[in-house]
Amino acid sequence: MLIDTHAHLDDKRFERDRRQVIEQCISDGVVCIINAGSNISSSIKSIKLAAEYPLIYAAVGVHPHDAKTWDENSAQLLETFAHKEKVVAIGEIGLDYHYDFSPRDQQKKVFREQLNLAREMKLPVVIHDRESHGDILRILREESAWEIGGVMHCFSGSRDTARECMDMNLYISLAGPVTFENARKAREVAEYVPLDRILIETDCPYLTPVPHRGKRNYPGYVRFVAEEICRLKGIEHDDLMAAVARNVKNVFNIDL
Ligand code: NI
Repeated sequence: MLIDTHAHLDDKRFERDRRQVIEQCISDGVVCIINAGSNISSSIKSIKLAAEYPLIYAAVGVHPHDAKTWDENSAQLLETFAHKEKVVAIGEIGLDYHYDFSPRDQQKKVFREQLNLAREMKLPVVIHDRESHGDILRILREESAWEIGGVMHCFSGSRDTARECMDMNLYISLAGPVTFENARKAREVAEYVPLDRILIETDCPYLTPVPHRGKRNYPGYVRFVAEEICRLKGIEHDDLMAAVARNVKNVFNIDL
């Protein structure tokens, strides 16, 4: 059994063969995929995928890259989306100071607005944090993130940052980077995070794990993320997946 808690199957890189890719996931043993929205149109696509495929669930939200597209209608639209069937989270939302595709003030404003939307909708959040750990932690504290709950997706921080996030009732999701040769920090975090706080994901089509680095990523490759975490923790695949399934139930209220 495999679970991918963060994918972008709506991405244009799946335009030509999306159905085959999803069928391949099913034959690989993937039983649950959470497809994260990046903006309004991607959130709509995410909801459509969830309606079409039993194993897919949707998160809806505006990514920090797209924070510049946020306008007075965005919150209203997301609220409408949040009521749809199989929408399990607000995401992905957060800050990205690596690319700075949107001005930082706008990123912060849009992040806070969506945290508050999640609180109102009683949904967890899926958080993107790239080179913005300080501001992410500060905003999460100021917005009482422990009342909202959610996931630090593709976690890239230190053990200390992981500790602070877990203390705020957030889960730590690990992706392909744990398999990268130079990813000492990601492996330290994988060893450190307890089983009752861990999630796994691909973030496909990005971040393809070793040994397929360079190729397009897809949810079936979550197997390599799981294998590396099992190796680091000295546990069996079934034990990891049982823990992930329990955590998916706790965070997203999905029964597997
Ligand atoms: Ni993502």
